[in-house]
Amino acid sequence: MLIRRCAVLLLEPREETQFHLEQLLRGGDGLVRTLRCMALAPHLEAPIELDQEASAWLATLSPNVWIRLEPGSHQEELALPLVQAGLLVSKDDDDSDLARRDTRLRTVYWHPLAAVMHAFSRWDGVDAVRNMQESETETAEQMRQTLGEPPPEAKVMSLKGASTVLPEVDGNAFDALLSRRVTCRNFDPMRPVPLNMFAQMLQRTFGSRTRFKVGEDLVFLKKNVPSGGGLHPIEAYLVVQNVEGLDPGLYHYRGDTHELERLPSDVAIDRDFVMELVGQQHWFADAHVLVVLAPRFERTFWKYRQHAKSYRVVAMEAGHLSQTLYLAATDAGLGAFITAAINEKHAERALKLDTIAEGVLAVCGFGWRAGSMTTTELDPAGVIWHPAPA
Ligand SMILES: Cc1cc2nc3c(=O)[nH]c(=O)nc-3n(C[C@H](O)[C@H](O)[C@H](O)COP(=O)(O)O)c2cc1C
Repeated sequence: MLIRRCAVLLLEPREETQFHLEQLLRGGDGLVRTLRCMALAPHLEAPIELDQEASAWLATLSPNVWIRLEPGSHQEELALPLVQAGLLVSKDDDDSDLARRDTRLRTVYWHPLAAVMHAFSRWDGVDAVRNMQESETETAEQMRQTLGEPPPEAKVMSLKGASTVLPEVDGNAFDALLSRRVTCRNFDPMRPVPLNMFAQMLQRTFGSRTRFKVGEDLVFLKKNVPSGGGLHPIEAYLVVQNVEGLDPGLYHYRGDTHELERLPSDVAIDRDFVMELVGQQHWFADAHVLVVLAPRFERTFWKYRQHAKSYRVVAMEAGHLSQTLYLAATDAGLGAFITAAINEKHAERALKLDTIAEGVLAVCGFGWRAGSMTTTELDPAGVIWHPAPA
């Protein structure tokens, strides 16, 4: 059998702690600690536990050079379960699903640490609201109680005589717009967003102003947001819930042509779907439009190959898009939000993403604010909820 190691593999010694009453009664601290060796390979769905022999052997194998294992040898015996798990690739079986995912990973140029981080920070079936309740971190008072003293809200350098009080500058319309930007957690499901307003939101946030071509097939888009290398890898997939003239459902926005593409879906795009998408945060589920920010990592990694900064660059771009969406919504009189507490795998399945080359980083949304606040919004100055009479 000819084998080689999978392309990317991180071996993590992971300690797990469990409470054991017996251990406490025997005079210990009640905690039993177990050290396990976990294999983290980003083309696989989950970490795999290894014994010492397998982990030590894997660490000696090349991801590039094929080696021959003698039939009936101890090494072949060791290799078989590792091939089945996808940690080793067998040349005889390089058409299996896992082997194909491994090959795909080699062509997308992930930085290995970023690939592992991305693969194993995705959620599936997580209820973020219940998690906050169970960890007693739901309200600010609870957080203080549970988590103890927080780091200060601002850093003070305490450099005597070295600070300059800067002039207060009079605000203009842009400052007023910025101060009206408040994350919206209360949407009005009774009032649809007009199509023109929806179109303007997408055009301003995700649309392309110009395209230009270099040579045969290298095309750059000029957009309202910055992008590392000008490559604009992040796609906008929309869950349209309440827009005049549009059927509710899944769409893809083409920023280069300002077109909306209706996506076929095997699953019902209903409230359950949306609740699962936003980790059961019911306060976002009534948003008129939710936008799944889904990078095509391969577009950025094509230039920044196995680069230590490339994943960071793409993640920052999601922030730029979100801020632009917030400001465009605020300008239109709408509310907006972003959340990273999302079930990425649920979105990947619905959107049929190639999860080696594409992924989901966050979900944003926008729509009309409700007339009253049921879920708390951070508006201590009362700019949105108690505006001063004109
Ligand atoms: C990257 C990111 C992730 C966020 N995730 C959540 C979230 O999961 N749930 C939520 O209710 N708000 C989320 N927020 C919104 C913040 O809670 C909000 O920005 C913060 O409370 C400050 O309020 P403001 O946006 O109104 O100024 C997120 C914000 C950012 C920038």
